[in-house]
Amino acid sequence: MRKILVGVSGASGMPLALRLLGHLSAMPDVELSCIVSDGAAAVLNAECGLAPDALARHARHAYQADDLGAGPASGSWWHGGGAPAAMLVVPCSMGTLGALASGATRNLLQRAADAALKESLRLVLVTRESPLSAIHLRNMLSLREAGAVIMPFSPGFYLRPPSLDAMLDQFCGRILDQAGIAHDLGRWAPEMAPPAGSSITSQGDQS
Ligand SMILES: Cc1cc2nc3c(=O)[nH]c(=O)nc-3n(C[C@H](O)[C@H](O)[C@H](O)COP(=O)(O)O)c2cc1C
Repeated sequence: MRKILVGVSGASGMPLALRLLGHLSAMPDVELSCIVSDGAAAVLNAECGLAPDALARHARHAYQADDLGAGPASGSWWHGGGAPAAMLVVPCSMGTLGALASGATRNLLQRAADAALKESLRLVLVTRESPLSAIHLRNMLSLREAGAVIMPFSPGFYLRPPSLDAMLDQFCGRILDQAGIAHDLGRWAPEMAPPAGSSITSQGDQS
């Protein structure tokens, strides 16, 4: 079993978090844990009309964001599995990014990500903000230099996804690739290009 901790912070992108947790929960070799920040609860309600349990129910272990005494706060929690543990912050707000870049962590999600970094484990931050200020960019560089993977939620259109769920699944696959988690969500290859006209197009697009 491999420990995977998903932290959901208060940035836009809750449908991606829901989709990713759903895929991970179906993987028999993954021991899935989850932390939902207070900010995430507000965004989840705004974007999907759902309560935090809609995210947490996918995980075997769901931790409260204010529970700083919980296992993931400790470096030792991260070791001992069959394969190196990993943490995915999906989506990652600029607030959480800043806390991680400064090391001044204020909730369990941030502390757990800080612990994953100091234990030299995979930390993938799926950021969501646009445009980016110089502060955001510096924070991203600091964290990249510290070993984190910075992965802005930038969906690819080259596979011509036929639906929003298909687009989310493609991006879930890319996140899982970064964490070294095997999946069957597809990857880009030239021969996979679907026929013209099979993609989502904007209204009024005549091309
Ligand atoms: C509907 C909504 C959407 C938001 N979208 C973003 C976002 O895309 N990126 C971001 O950095 N913050 C966003 N925020 C602001 C964060 O939720 C806020 O800064 C929060 O304090 C972050 O806390 P957390 O990182 O502990 O979850 C959004 C807030 C709301 C209510």
